[in-house]
Amino acid sequence: MTWLITGGAGYIGAHVARVMADAGERVVALDDLSAGVAHRLPSDIALIQGSSLDGDLLKRTFAEHTVTGVVHLAARKQVGESVAQPARYYQENVGGLATLLDAVAEAGIGRFLFSSSAAVYGNPDVELITEDTPCAPMSPYGETKLAGEWLVRAAGRAHGIATVCLRYFNVAGAAAPELADTGVFNVVPMVFDRLTRDEAPRIFGDDYPTPDGTCVRDYIHVADLADAHLAAARRLAATGTPGVTGATDATRDLTVNIGRGEGVSVRELVTLIGEVTGDTRAALVEPRRPGDAPRAVASAARAAEELGWTARRGVREMVESAWQGWRLHHSG
Ligand SMILES: NC(=O)c1ccc[n+]([C@@H]2O[C@H](COP(=O)([O-])OP(=O)(O)OC[C@H]3O[C@@H](n4cnc5c(N)ncnc54)[C@H](O)[C@@H]3O)[C@@H](O)[C@H]2O)c1
Repeated sequence: MTWLITGGAGYIGAHVARVMADAGERVVALDDLSAGVAHRLPSDIALIQGSSLDGDLLKRTFAEHTVTGVVHLAARKQVGESVAQPARYYQENVGGLATLLDAVAEAGIGRFLFSSSAAVYGNPDVELITEDTPCAPMSPYGETKLAGEWLVRAAGRAHGIATVCLRYFNVAGAAAPELADTGVFNVVPMVFDRLTRDEAPRIFGDDYPTPDGTCVRDYIHVADLADAHLAAARRLAATGTPGVTGATDATRDLTVNIGRGEGVSVRELVTLIGEVTGDTRAALVEPRRPGDAPRAVASAARAAEELGWTARRGVREMVESAWQGWRLHHSG
């Protein structure tokens, strides 16, 4: 197999590309570098600079590299921006996916892995979120991921493409400092950013119905997440091709949560960040932000059953590795 990884120069994409290449898979990355960094990829992984919305480029790339599977991570991912620019998010995340899936079908590519998000669930009132928990996204970003899943499954059925949708929970950490997330959109870099500015970390709301009153989330190390992609890619590769007997519907269309199945409160996380950075100043408690769910923790059972994958790295390892990456990128 040769896998095309869209968004391969991004934070998660570069981890996925490296893990898959290290495991012996042939990979090619495509990235428009709107948010990606080319040197996250080692020189032996080809990087095609261009957009996954460019159908002609996709066709050429599929042919030139004899691509047989696609891992689609390229997307806009900022919730706030999606609220301000919903049409852009639908055009790029859903329209772009439609272009890609058309090109995939035309090229006869039979395996497709889609990067989805826990944002599809919205704010469910359950202890553990399973893949059967009803989806009710609370932002245009989450809507584009849910609509993307629908489109992926529909295209899979129409064109005989085996598909996997991975719903990532809260991704953090880095396998190496140079691969770290350089954006300040998630809680870990947001706290680092505050500390670097000599400001106290902020906690939004401490009166939620949770043990310490702060929101509870499921954090997943990006290196574990990359391993989950490898497991999903291998499962897709083992799935029968269209027309080949032995491929049941259940093996051709899979949706899986990728989390640790353990909740960590924002206060616990901020305390841990204080221990790791040595900056233990007290957090400022601010009002709740609209739309924050009190608790969002994955059931990780299906990933274990269907992919044979479970997370191995803990939250301290995520924070320590993210901090090393932060210091590398903010040392000047
Ligand atoms: N980071 C998280 O916590 C998280 C959680 C759930 C889901 N996701 C999803 O994971 C995927 C990767 O996220 P990330 O955190 O690595 O973000 P990122 O911004 O670092 O990576 C996205 C990459 O895609 C590229 N890109 C964007 N639009 C493109 C296009 N049209 N054509 C080609 N390349 C394009 C960007 O340059 C970037 O390198 C996204 O689909 C995101 O929605 C991320």
